[in-house]
Amino acid sequence: MADRKLIAVVGATGAQGGGLAHAILDDPTGGFVCRAVTRHPASEKAQALKSAGAEVVQADLDDVSSLEEAFSGAYGAFCVTNFWEHFSAEKEKAQARNMTDAARKAGLSHVIWSTLEDTRKLMAPGDNRMPFLQEKYRVPHFDAKAEADSYFAGLPVTYLVTSFYWDNLYTFGLGPKKGEDGSYTWVFPMGDKRLAGIASEDIGKVAYGIFKAGPAYIGKTVGIAGEFLTLDRMAFMLSKALGIRIKYQAVEPDAYRSFGFPGADELGNMFQVYRDFEKEVVGARSADLASVLNPSLLTFDEWIGKYKSRIPL
Ligand SMILES: NC(=O)c1ccc[n+]([C@@H]2O[C@H](COP(=O)([O-])OP(=O)(O)OC[C@H]3O[C@@H](n4cnc5c(N)ncnc54)[C@H](OP(=O)(O)O)[C@@H]3O)[C@@H](O)[C@H]2O)c1
Repeated sequence: MADRKLIAVVGATGAQGGGLAHAILDDPTGGFVCRAVTRHPASEKAQALKSAGAEVVQADLDDVSSLEEAFSGAYGAFCVTNFWEHFSAEKEKAQARNMTDAARKAGLSHVIWSTLEDTRKLMAPGDNRMPFLQEKYRVPHFDAKAEADSYFAGLPVTYLVTSFYWDNLYTFGLGPKKGEDGSYTWVFPMGDKRLAGIASEDIGKVAYGIFKAGPAYIGKTVGIAGEFLTLDRMAFMLSKALGIRIKYQAVEPDAYRSFGFPGADELGNMFQVYRDFEKEVVGARSADLASVLNPSLLTFDEWIGKYKSRIPL
């Protein structure tokens, strides 16, 4: 134990951090131990991590002193924020700031920050193809994370640029919808462009590969995806695996933004970025590097095979 490196995993009860926590716990001779950071140590997920061998500690991203304790004595930390809990770019930045303050105080040797690109850099300020949200952001949950990148400067950090989770099909209500004639429609404002997607569990597994690589990725930006596929192609693959007919329907981003569900404007802007800046978004991510860092990286077909029973139809 003493010679094993302790990783404080923020979000260990969630998708990204959970992937990392399990990667550490599933590899007992790998040289790392997992400290799961959660607000709710008594929760079922936290208790399951404890039973699997993790140390579980209580901390809140809004409370820097709790993070200082959670990071104290650790070799490294995995840092992630959850925009979708509060929908606030400013809060996301404040939480990232708290993690960097705590990481400095703890003198960590390696920090991984789960981030995304600043979509504002892709468009001139006067470009009116999409609205600004929360006053100054194009895609707040991207732009806020990118702004927070600068807080990590000076720390031994790896910037991990993630991709759209395929798991959104069952966790985020983004699966195909059944019509009155029994066929399924899958609506996105993505035109015929490729979506950079990934199994959410693979993000944490890549993070584990980064920690295992030692200093090789410190100071680097690592953009990852599982596969780059058009929605047409994904609908075809899903149809085949599920034995139903799913038709991808491309809509305009303005129409998507007006759908009215919470976050529709945010997701409309995000998919429009994916569509209008396919080259830049795809170019910032690599499935090859992701599979070097995580040799069990899932393809979309493999993800469907593993998770299809969870997709509500
Ligand atoms: N969905 C996608 O396609 C996608 C793609 C790329 C990036 N992302 C980003 O992923 C992030 C969310 O990560 P996820 O999907 O892994 O989360 P998740 O599965 O929804 O779980 C959220 C995790 O964050 C922890 N957490 C939230 N607020 C916290 C706080 N105040 N203090 C301490 N812990 C807190 C929760 O821990 P406890 O509840 O146990 O405290 C939980 O472990 C978002 O910011 C999103 O923008 C999502």
